[in-house]
Amino acid sequence: MSENVNRRDFLGMALGGVALVGAGATLAAVKRTWDPLPSVIAAGFTTVDLSPMAEGELRVVEWRGKPVYILKKTAAMSACDTRDVNVGGAAYSVGIQICTHLGCIPAYDSGKAMFKCACHGGEFDACGRNTFGPPPTPMEIPPFKIDGNTLVLGEEGPEFLKLKEANA
Ligand code: FES
Repeated sequence: MSENVNRRDFLGMALGGVALVGAGATLAAVKRTWDPLPSVIAAGFTTVDLSPMAEGELRVVEWRGKPVYILKKTAAMSACDTRDVNVGGAAYSVGIQICTHLGCIPAYDSGKAMFKCACHGGEFDACGRNTFGPPPTPMEIPPFKIDGNTLVLGEEGPEFLKLKEANA
């Protein structure tokens, strides 16, 4: 009798152990399936070193398939408290360079320090604010964070959240 009980206990524990290992392996497999691939995580971010940029220079980078402009403002350009990104004592204008009317890509005119949309004549100032024509809103500011002299597009840092709140 006691040998039977011991055998039953042993079998129960052995089966329980196998079930636990199986459940653990299944959970690990489910997590692997749900987690985005490292390449997908990396693809969500675009980093831009701002240190070599000259005053008045405009750079366009691709972030999640969209063009994002970064303009290092000159002293002559007016400040935009609710849109300027300040890094190392310099002000930058950052925005998704897509017209908020019907989605064309406005071209930057460095002589006039403004963006002009060829589709229907919409205009945006150096801060990315709509100033003329059909665009109903400023160009969108992409989520970003500042890491030293690097702009990281794709992550909401405190500087982005401050601008977001100011524009709410
Ligand atoms: S799409 Fe830019 S003005 Fe219409």
